[in-house]
Amino acid sequence: MADNSIHTDLFSPTKLGEIELANRIVMAPLTRSRVNKEGVPNELNVTYYVQRASAGLIISEATNISAQGRGYAMTPGIWTEDQVEGWKKVTDAIHLAGGKLVIQLWHVGRCSHVDLQPNREAPVAPSAIKADGNVYTESGIQEVSMPRALRIDEIPGIVEQYRHAAECAKRAGFDGVEIHSANNYLLEQFLRDSTNHRTDQYGGSIENRVRLALEVVEAVTSVWSSGRVGIRLSPVTTEVGNTPLDSNVMATYSYLIQQLNKFKLAYLHFVEGTTGKNRTVPENVDLGTLRSLFDGAYIGNNNYDFEMAISRRAEGQVDAVAFGRPFISNPDLVERLRYGIKLADVTNDAYYGNGAKGYTDWPKANSF
Ligand SMILES: Cc1cc2nc3c(=O)[nH]c(=O)nc-3n(C[C@H](O)[C@H](O)[C@H](O)COP(=O)(O)O)c2cc1C
Repeated sequence: MADNSIHTDLFSPTKLGEIELANRIVMAPLTRSRVNKEGVPNELNVTYYVQRASAGLIISEATNISAQGRGYAMTPGIWTEDQVEGWKKVTDAIHLAGGKLVIQLWHVGRCSHVDLQPNREAPVAPSAIKADGNVYTESGIQEVSMPRALRIDEIPGIVEQYRHAAECAKRAGFDGVEIHSANNYLLEQFLRDSTNHRTDQYGGSIENRVRLALEVVEAVTSVWSSGRVGIRLSPVTTEVGNTPLDSNVMATYSYLIQQLNKFKLAYLHFVEGTTGKNRTVPENVDLGTLRSLFDGAYIGNNNYDFEMAISRRAEGQVDAVAFGRPFISNPDLVERLRYGIKLADVTNDAYYGNGAKGYTDWPKANSF
């Protein structure tokens, strides 16, 4: 008799560094803007994450490492004791449900508005170059504010924000942390020569532009075992802020990845293409080459469907696949994929805000 079962080890246990996963389906980080003004996770957030605990690994929504790092209202933080306590409820509940959760550490850099900044100060960035985009503030959608360039004597303070957040994350009971160096937030703003016009030791040469990201990795791995620290990169995305690519993507990101190898991180998480839009890559960029430079585990993301996940896993291109939007409308995504159950579609009015609606009210499939 023909064997019609799907041959994939996506549903088999694996390890990313020291983090043990029940399967290779990862929930991508998803900002949902359902947290209070103080950035403290609540019971609704606990319910949302627990509903999705069958993912092999959940990467939390991007979480602000400081008041200065905020660029969007109603997003969580991980720098105060109340935030630690709020997250502790989430991590305890996820662990009871058998899941794993790492926190994505976020500083938005120039993608902010003065309304979200302490004392209505200008957002900070490598250089005073404005993004082309909007952010969500307490009074609605607003155009980003003009940023100011960080002074060199302020950079140790930025690294300290990451270190402190990493320490808070440890106390909050996470299984690890993901350093958000993607989607053109602060760390990627330093990496790219399109957003970094500095002339000091944090700008100019590739070594200089990569310096801050490496200092942050160093600081975070001084708190966490490196086998519990991952990093997210997005070498060819123009999201957010309609940000131009680096003038030499291959050289800059090759150097960065080779330097990252020294830390023996848990994983490298790539947004393959333009985040949430397409998988198109410029002719002079080869993401496969970049990926192959990394010595550790690799999570692929962006516009994957199940067939693509199976084939890229079978070809040995990925160790795990992160799904974003499908996890919004399918809390039981792993089971649905496994048993061939039709997926529910999501529309973008469910993405941000609105409490439980479009957040915790997506039903699980009736039976498997
Ligand atoms: C509503 C929404 C919120 C997102 N929030 C984050 C975030 O907090 N951090 C991040 O790195 N990416 C974020 N992303 C990007 C996703 O992690 C993912 O890269 C993107 O949705 C593409 O994956 P998909 O095709 O499986 O949805 C977000 C995407 C969406 C749709």
